[in-house]
Amino acid sequence: MAQTATRHAKLWFAGQAENWALAAYEIDELHEGMEDAGKYHPTHKQIKQAIPELIAQYVDQPLTALEQAINAKNKAEFIANYDKLTAGCNACHQATEFGFNVVQRPSFNPFANQAF
Ligand code: HEC
Repeated sequence: MAQTATRHAKLWFAGQAENWALAAYEIDELHEGMEDAGKYHPTHKQIKQAIPELIAQYVDQPLTALEQAINAKNKAEFIANYDKLTAGCNACHQATEFGFNVVQRPSFNPFANQAF
């Protein structure tokens, strides 16, 4: 999840810079990371629902929409779907009793050693 959070942040800065090749890479990694989480950790602690089910319910749709926006190099669609993805992240945190874990658009860029 910490890596998911890093990808989520980098994705934002790539989209803001309209660096679509980097955005495509980051969303791919984000999507893969989610799938791996579901594959290798199908259950987790007190969570009752299976992780792959939760991923399908909360983030599959916004991830696909975001991929389409990136392919279309459409910044407005990118931002709208980025916010939907973030809402999906938070909805899953709520559903898994990790609702105190709130993610948002990053407010500043901590990746000083990477050009976006
Ligand atoms: C399948 C449901 C689910 C989805 C979807 C999900 N998360 Fe999480 N997230 C969790 C759970 C469960 C934890 C707590 C994991 C633990 O026990 O360590 C967590 C923890 C986190 C943490 C805290 C990590 C830490 O150690 O401080 C961050 C940050 C986070 N998620 C970001 C995200 C982001 C960003 C997204 C969307 C791109 C996302 N999550 C999508 C379930 C989800």
